[in-house]
Amino acid sequence: MSPQVALRKAFSAFPTGVVAVCALVDERPVGMAVNSFTSISLDPPLVAVSVARTSSTWPTLATRGRLGMSVLGSEHEVLCRRLSARAVDRFEDAQWHATDDGAVLIDDAALWLECEVRSTFDGGDHEIVLMEVHEAETFPDVTPLVFHQSQFRELHADR
Ligand SMILES: Cc1cc2nc3c(=O)[nH]c(=O)nc-3n(C[C@H](O)[C@H](O)[C@H](O)COP(=O)(O)O)c2cc1C
Repeated sequence: MSPQVALRKAFSAFPTGVVAVCALVDERPVGMAVNSFTSISLDPPLVAVSVARTSSTWPTLATRGRLGMSVLGSEHEVLCRRLSARAVDRFEDAQWHATDDGAVLIDDAALWLECEVRSTFDGGDHEIVLMEVHEAETFPDVTPLVFHQSQFRELHADR
């Protein structure tokens, strides 16, 4: 196993949610799935994602004023795969809507954020993108999708 593959496997031991980062481009939705989302600051309200330098979608999203961030629900596994696949219509069968500012939000998500890119930082083969949160809406009854060891899992609230 190459060191990179071994490291990817090691990092996958950390369970995460999955976020769809999406915006309107020429009146059509464009987006990608990321699990590198993290909350950063309450005042000012900031979140961050890290995006691979090889991403063909991010350079387009980066030019948008507002980005929609949707924390995907457990029903969104197929959509999540689609939002990471190449050469497909990523929004086929997706239920989504756009805000007045052009952010695209996925219906039935656990959380919606409307964000604006504030700064970027070197993150090796990724770019770390810091974003300001302008709007937030939570849906506490939606069970989030969980990504762990390269598999989709569900949360079980036993207690
Ligand atoms: C669960 C999951 C999490 C992902 N997380 C990230 C991420 O944090 N950053 C990233 O750049 N790509 C991530 N990807 C890959 C992108 O969704 C996408 O496949 C990749 O950007 C290639 O497509 P593109 O060239 O259109 O950007 C993830 C994919 C999946 C399925």
